[in-house]
Order: sequence, then C-alpha cells, then structure tokens
Amino acid sequence: MEKRWDILGIGSATVDDLLFVPAFPVQDTKNKLDRVERFGGGLTATALVTAARLGARAAFAGVLGDDDISRWIEIDLAREGVDVSLLPRHPDARPIHAFIIVDSTAETRTILYTVDGRTGAHDDLPAAEDIRAAKALLIDDISVDHADALIRPAQIALDAGMPVVADFEWTNDPALIAIPDHLIVSQRFAARVTGETAPEAAARALWHDRRAVVVITCGAEGSWLLARGGVASHHPAFPVPVVDTTGCGDVFHGAYAVALARGLPPDERVRYATAAAALKATQAGGRKGIPTHEQVEVFLRSQ
Ligand SMILES: Nc1ncnc2c1ncn2[C@@H]1O[C@H](COP(=O)(O)OP(=O)(O)OP(=O)(O)O)[C@@H](O)[C@H]1O
Ligand SMILES: [Mg+2]
Repeated sequence: MEKRWDILGIGSATVDDLLFVPAFPVQDTKNKLDRVERFGGGLTATALVTAARLGARAAFAGVLGDDDISRWIEIDLAREGVDVSLLPRHPDARPIHAFIIVDSTAETRTILYTVDGRTGAHDDLPAAEDIRAAKALLIDDISVDHADALIRPAQIALDAGMPVVADFEWTNDPALIAIPDHLIVSQRFAARVTGETAPEAAARALWHDRRAVVVITCGAEGSWLLARGGVASHHPAFPVPVVDTTGCGDVFHGAYAVALARGLPPDERVRYATAAAALKATQAGGRKGIPTHEQVEVFLRSQ
C-alpha cells in the first residue's frame, strides 16, 4: 500500500508566551513589558516540525480543543508543513499554555503554566485505517493519565508492522513503557524507571525481545544505542558552538523517525539524529535552529 505519511505523531503540542521584562516585577506594581514572543513547543509537535523540515511527510493527531490556543497550534503546524487534516477535537481538550517571564538583566526564566484539560491522545481517533496510512508512529506520554488512549494507536501500528518511536518523560506504567519497539528516552527518565544511572545498563534494563532499538540520550554526553544483536554503542554529541539546547531531545526523535522511515540502519539513524540535534543547539529557541535535510548532509560530510 502506498503510504500517505512518513510519520504520524500523537502527543503534545504546547504554546509558550515569552514575556520579556527589564527586571523581575515587584508584587502589586504595574510593569511595562519590553516585548512578547510566542513559540510553539511540545515534544511530538516539535519532532514533527523537525520531520517536515527534513523533508518528510508528517502529520499531527494529538487532540486539540476549540480555544484560541488550540487554533494557534493548528495554524502554526500547518505553516511548518505538518499535515493537520487528521487532528481530533474535543470540547474538553486544552493544550498546555506557558507564560515565561524572561528577566533580561538577571538572565532568569520563571515559568507559569496552565493544565486545564485533556491533551495528548484522543480516546478513539485517529481511526485505525488512518494510523496504518503512515510509515511510522511517533508518540509521547503527555496524556500520562490516559495510557489506554496511547496504547490503542501504538498497538494498531505494531499489529500492522509499523514501527512505533516513543519519548517518555512522565509515565511509570510498565505496560506503556513496554509498548514501543523504538524507545528513545533521556538518561534522567531511564534512571528513574530502571534505577540504573549508567546509560548502557539502563538501555539493557529497558530491553525486551519485541524492542528493535533502545536509545538513552545524555545531553552533551551524546547517546547510547542498543539494537537487536545486543551490541551497545556510544554516539558522542557533535562539538558545536552551543547557544540553546531546549528541544534537542524532541529534534533527535523527529530526525530519528525520518531516518527510520527512509530505511537507514540503526547506527545511521542515530548519527543523523545526533547531527540534527547538534545543529538545533547552535541557535536560540526550541525550533529556530532545526535544520533541513541538506544542512544535516553538509554538516555530516564536514565531520
Ligand atoms: N550541548 C549539546 N551539544 C551537542 N549536541 C547535544 C547537546 N545537548 C544535546 N545534544 C544532542 O541531543 C540529544 C538529545 O539531548 P538530551 O539528552 O538533552 O534530550 P532531552 O533530555 O530529552 O532534552 P529536551 O527534553 O530538553 O529536549 C543528545 O543525545 C545529543 O546528541
Ligand atoms: Mg526530552
């Protein structure tokens, strides 16, 4: 069957409003803002923006509501080239909306955020046939309280022979953690759920015979890949002039999924993802530095 998308993502899409102040406000005072900037965030949404920038056909199917923030996310994703035609809506759904006070003098960031409704996976959308119309499924666990809603699409994908790439941050649910065949998590998460602080040991603790790949990402220390066959390998981060590492993990997931959908072997997927994440880190903001496929190729040739 000809697939409609390379990557279908079900998970988090958020909005960050950055409020720039010359000095942190004192209680009970009126303060003029220097400026306000709005950015889209969220793990799955940023991974899909990465996939689209790298030239893949990406679609987002996390649940959104009927509020202004939901509409902003839909328009922003479409502008980035992410297909939103499958997007499920629910009147109770509300994306996470963060207000970040950036004190330009003291260089501090104070984050305030709302969580007032359902976000992440919808209970019964997208339909099974739409899930199967993608080459790979990408999920995160923002809907941690609704694990069944996330297990449903993942199981549909696995039953159809599609790979499921997951990033988890919050869950403790062994059934959910066991589901993806491509589990890519931070060292922080891996240490919390396995008790193993060494990345290779944590990867082995998360391994079972239905996994294809476990990757533990360790920030500037790079990542550890454990693939079928049982050999673990370390992939150092590329040395780049780092400006902002926000979203490196999200970009890593998106680029890994693209390389997987293109049929690259595990070590080349991780190399591609490591390069995309390093390039992102060279610019400020969660998404600005996300490279194109050509930029990743040029960068890799220069290494
Ligand atoms: N300072 C850095 N320089 C170069 N590459 C980096 C740097 N930080 C992260 N990376 C790359 O990005 C990958 C993912 O980063 P990290 O382990 O920090 O993800 P994370 O903890 O999920 O972060 P976040 O959730 O904030 O995006 C790393 O394995 C590495 O390849
Ligand atoms: Mg992360």
